[in-house]
Amino acid sequence: MIRLQGALPERYTSASPEELAEWIGSAKATLGGRVLLLGHHYQRDEVMVWADARGDSFGLSRTAAARRDAEFIVFCGVHFMAESADILTAAHQQVLLPDLNAGCSMADMADIDSVEEAWEALGRVSDVERIVPITYMNSSAALKAFVGAHGGAVCTSSNARAVLNWALDPKGTGQAAGDKVLFFPDQHLGRNTGFDLGYGEDDMVVWNPRLELGGLEDADVKRATLLLWRGHCSVHQRFSPGHVAAFRAEHPDGIVLVHPECAHEVVVLADHVGSTDSIIRAVEAAPSGSTIGIATEIHLVKRLADEHPDKRIACLDPLVCPCSTMFRIDAAHLAWIREGLLEGEVRNRIVVDEETAGLARIALERMLEIT
Ligand code: 13P
Ligand code: SF4
Repeated sequence: MIRLQGALPERYTSASPEELAEWIGSAKATLGGRVLLLGHHYQRDEVMVWADARGDSFGLSRTAAARRDAEFIVFCGVHFMAESADILTAAHQQVLLPDLNAGCSMADMADIDSVEEAWEALGRVSDVERIVPITYMNSSAALKAFVGAHGGAVCTSSNARAVLNWALDPKGTGQAAGDKVLFFPDQHLGRNTGFDLGYGEDDMVVWNPRLELGGLEDADVKRATLLLWRGHCSVHQRFSPGHVAAFRAEHPDGIVLVHPECAHEVVVLADHVGSTDSIIRAVEAAPSGSTIGIATEIHLVKRLADEHPDKRIACLDPLVCPCSTMFRIDAAHLAWIREGLLEGEVRNRIVVDEETAGLARIALERMLEIT
């Protein structure tokens, strides 16, 4: 998706790191508690040092919803996270994204038109009243609104299991919300969670939005419990079973931690699978002297290595794999945003229109209730 972030004024592009830190610090001192800065774990260190709260996408959405005292929320993360914060915050609060081009390529793999087309096509071969749409947090507000309007919920990597349990009730302990799930946009999180809940290969099919009926036969749609949208994260899809094998060969006692956006062939080889927050907790819990290989974004891996000098921590992929959109947010953009607020100018405000926000809020609040 194209969003237009203009070039920053020269004051910021030519400033030294020390100058930028001084400007951010003095704006912070003047603005005080009026501004809450949220930092996702994949942000650069020069941004994270200013974060009032760090978190995974679930934790940050909860913090945004809880902190009614902050007038401005500067979201150092990507566009869908800032949109979710705008939906969950009160009318007197404004959410700012320091660089408008900080999007998410995975979120862009499902757009509202293709999802509506898929829904219509599914309606021709199946009872859509019994299909529960689940969208990963990594999606536009329009998709969250679609899900809210059709009885579904949002999920994140830390609660996908709970949300799919609510939707399908695989253990038959209560009332399932439906018989099938259309899960978008990340096929890997959907598949990994499906296997985790006991579903087999035959219960899951991939929906290719570019093909008629997702590239499936009517019988496939009728048989499948999980219809997985053909989307992926280009950062996490890079990790392969070969990376895990190479790490294990070198460190037979090593610990492998992976994010559930990785392919299932990688996830099955891991010692622990979880969201960014859960990877952090697993590192903290590992005994001193451990060697840990991690499959997730490189800024988080490097920060963990710095914060735990008693453990040997490395990325499983020896070729660095940053998230290029998270990386767009830097100290220069932060200084520009903060100084704008000092001057009474709200830059890069993210606003979701009321109709979309109302429906998307249903799907987000359902997630918060389930978890
Ligand atoms: P978390 O919810 O684990 O923070 O993941 C967000 C994300 O975009 C991972 O690529
Ligand atoms: Fe999107 Fe992947 Fe970046 Fe996460 S790491 S924000 S899923 S592109």
